[in-house]
Amino acid sequence: MAQIKVHDKNFIPYLSAAEIDTQVQRVADEINRDYSNKKPLFIAILNGAFIFAADLFKKIDVEAEICFIKLASYKGIKSTGKVITAIGLDAEIYGRDVIIVEDIVDTGKTLSQFLPQLEHQHPASLKITSLLHKPEAMIHPIKIDYLGFTIPNKFVLGYGLDYDGLGRNIKEIYQLV
Ligand code: IMP
Repeated sequence: MAQIKVHDKNFIPYLSAAEIDTQVQRVADEINRDYSNKKPLFIAILNGAFIFAADLFKKIDVEAEICFIKLASYKGIKSTGKVITAIGLDAEIYGRDVIIVEDIVDTGKTLSQFLPQLEHQHPASLKITSLLHKPEAMIHPIKIDYLGFTIPNKFVLGYGLDYDGLGRNIKEIYQLV
């Protein structure tokens, strides 16, 4: 794997497809163990999580459902700043064992705004799985229950993650030079 250029920026190989697969399998093993007598509902957050969600879900061997949502932020009427809404969340949350599937938790802002909305619907339990986590970038602390990799505070792309729309189809994860 050599250096690649996406738009105007150069990226170097960071996590290989094999390394990613190993950690996705480990995360799936942990979830399979913890949910052995449950029927979890996975809620994958588009766009970035679509590849991780698909690969993870294939490795889940308990009865499970999955749905895909998009989070959109808009300015509320009040002066409280941005409000996050979930588009496509038609599944019944009440009483379900919910697992949120994220590609990366960076500042934690997105999830810190979205989680209270889900809790409001009284799931039986609410856990988070994320492929990547940048602890140095975290502003809003989020507990990640099932984590693939802890990474430094550098921009990454590939395996579902994009730089300005490109790079999602790359099988490995690359890091900004
Ligand atoms: P947060 O709200 O700051 O935690 O941001 C989470 C979202 O920002 C992720 O779901 C990604 O879509 C995007 N993001 C954060 N860091 C990166 C990165 O290094 N590469 C690509 N997307 C990123």
